[in-house]
Amino acid sequence: MKIADLPIPEDAKLIISKAGFEELYPPQREAIEAGVLDGKNLVLASPTASGKTLVAELCAIIHIVERGGKVLYLTPLRALASEKYDDFKKYTALRRKDGRRLRLGITTGDYDGSDPWLNRYDIIISTNEKADSLLRHRADWISDVTLVVADEIHLLNDGGRGPTLEVTLAKLIDVNPGIQILALSATVRNADEIANWLKATSITTDWRPVKLLEGVCLREQALFNDGSAITIVEEDQNPVTNFALNITVQGGQALIFADTRRQAVAFARKAAKAVNKTLSKSKKCVLKTVADRILSSGEKTRIGNLLADLVSKGVAFHHAGLKSQHRKIIEDAFRERRLKIISATPTLAAGVNLPARRVIISSYRRYEPGYGWYPISVLEYKQMSGRAGRPRYDSVGEALLISKNADEQDYLMNSYVLAEPERIWSRLAAENVLRSHVLATIASGFAKTEQGLFEFFDRTLNAHQYGSRNLKELLVKVLKFLYKEEMVNANGSYIEATEFGRRVSELYIDPVSGVIFRDGFYARSKALSDLSLLHMVCRTPDLYPKNYPRSRELKDLVTFVEVHRDEFVFEVPSEWDDRIKFESFLGEVKSALILDAWNSEVSEDGIIEKFSVEPGDLFRLVESAKWLLHAAHELCRLFGHKDLIPRISELEVRTEFGVKKELIPLVRLAGVGRVRGRMLFNAGFKTINDLKKASLSRLQEIPYIGPKMAKNIKEQIGGVVNKEEWDRLKEDVFDQRVLSDY
Ligand SMILES: Nc1ncnc2c1ncn2[C@@H]1O[C@H](COP(=O)(O)OP(=O)(O)OP(=O)(O)O)[C@@H](O)[C@H]1O
Ligand SMILES: [Mg+2]
Repeated sequence: MKIADLPIPEDAKLIISKAGFEELYPPQREAIEAGVLDGKNLVLASPTASGKTLVAELCAIIHIVERGGKVLYLTPLRALASEKYDDFKKYTALRRKDGRRLRLGITTGDYDGSDPWLNRYDIIISTNEKADSLLRHRADWISDVTLVVADEIHLLNDGGRGPTLEVTLAKLIDVNPGIQILALSATVRNADEIANWLKATSITTDWRPVKLLEGVCLREQALFNDGSAITIVEEDQNPVTNFALNITVQGGQALIFADTRRQAVAFARKAAKAVNKTLSKSKKCVLKTVADRILSSGEKTRIGNLLADLVSKGVAFHHAGLKSQHRKIIEDAFRERRLKIISATPTLAAGVNLPARRVIISSYRRYEPGYGWYPISVLEYKQMSGRAGRPRYDSVGEALLISKNADEQDYLMNSYVLAEPERIWSRLAAENVLRSHVLATIASGFAKTEQGLFEFFDRTLNAHQYGSRNLKELLVKVLKFLYKEEMVNANGSYIEATEFGRRVSELYIDPVSGVIFRDGFYARSKALSDLSLLHMVCRTPDLYPKNYPRSRELKDLVTFVEVHRDEFVFEVPSEWDDRIKFESFLGEVKSALILDAWNSEVSEDGIIEKFSVEPGDLFRLVESAKWLLHAAHELCRLFGHKDLIPRISELEVRTEFGVKKELIPLVRLAGVGRVRGRMLFNAGFKTINDLKKASLSRLQEIPYIGPKMAKNIKEQIGGVVNKEEWDRLKEDVFDQRVLSDY
């Protein structure tokens, strides 16, 4: 089927063919034959890179241009949301029937608002969590949505993010029973069951645009699923790096999946040595510019330096411990084929589109604290192996597992390469997950009676798969908790959220976090300090990532807790009665200490070294604490603790910027940040007034402040920029000194 034959407007066809598409891929054809363009619900389960997005694009065009509808596109990750935003941008040239151009919007952050401005867009790209929060705020425009696209729906199986997607879909259907649902998924075994739940047709294909050979290596030999085998020259003793190097010698790129961050770094280090020897002078020059971009983005850290060093040798590591700016630089450089090898943790497999000619899965085991080692699922293996083979560059992709002996080679071939992916199961039936969703369902009016609540949850995938009894028992338990904590009230047969419950639901925090704040505010402590408040935040189940004390830190933490005992709002558990509780308390204290160091302007590298955290973790911790402090602030206001409000509010700003109190006015200026703020302060510019009086040339004498930054500061505070002085300064080479994001 040709694009030209599709029942869509001519200018849309033009846009699509300009993007290089002429013929539909087979899964796309099947989807259209199944009636997806006529409004039928569809679950399309098809491998990586088989063109699922175009089906969504075609559907969206029909909804908006032909029917004057509105489209909500759900993705599980922010990075994917911006990828989809880029995919859809080309259609903003289209016009609706009323002549207005199509409007595309994206929303991923800030969960505390109904974002009425989104109403003006025809296509809204959102993360699942953001859509959930918009439903909690009962954003008006949601009832105008006529098509919802749920991307990567196999993540229903993910204990963390799956339930949110499940409940969000159930609510969208509830708000608008006529809504069309297009669910896109990796190949799974029970797409038909998911489809049944969504009253949809299901299509499952294993079609790929590039052939994929899957195999298992033993020493220098790889055995493939089609019966073929290759034996490679030994470039390195480790089979993982050996097989990676082998493909780079042939002009290809390799993606290594490691089971831990440490292992990802180790593979990258090893491979870099060998790759470096094969690079031409001009390639090295290009790589140096990529490395320089890493070094100049943000504060210097040891991990950033290591990454830049390896990148200059053609190899990178990639994991959640890296800053997002650094991850983006690496992803772009790999896509532009500058980097030869990326060694990553599996998070990359669920994230952005980064295909390679050869994918090497170094370990089929994964470690989970508390569970120990376990073998990964076939679904996860398929997600990783599916990264191999780039449509425009390679005619075939290769995915390799590594085995240690012939027995294991056999086992891996049967259990992964030749195995079918598992079924997807709902993960909603867990008390800690349901707590938040039950409250939200009541608070935003999706259920007005207990019976209504049971009926709502009866429409989830969980009830579809397991029946309603199991879920009902949990719902009763969760309701009891919500009554007890006064988040929900019963009035005859009606139930409704209290002001407290409603606010907790809107703030997008776990009800348990709400209880911790409420009780913490009332309990106070003998010596309430910033530490008391930070600890309160770090005690909530929402703080992410959690920190656990390492054995070498235990002694210092115990002493710290002893010395500061009076400051804690919550009782310190006894070390002897309940060791687990005690250590988890120490973990909370450790998180609070990291935040305190951040707020005391300890350098990023200083924090990373002292607490053995990584930059990405520090960033996420700060983001999470910022949100929780906002929530604490709001609840403090609700409960009328007037004396605490300014303290929490100050802590909120300090956490946002990572500064001491005295820098607050300075860092509020856009682009200044904690490093420049401190430089300005130490140079005597302590207030906005001081800055107003300063000349441009005086400002740009300060380290990290170039003429552009100086002008930017002056303009923000309403100062007048002297034109002659500016003309003179802008010629200055000092502009080089501007830090890119500080
Ligand atoms: N009909 C087509 N002709 C040519 N190229 C196409 C066609 N359809 C899609 N593509 C290209 O194929 C690539 C993969 O498509 P897409 O991102 O939609 O895959 P996907 O099925 O969503 O995979 P994943 O599961 O990884 O998200 C894209 O670069 C897209 O531009
Ligand atoms: Mg996709």
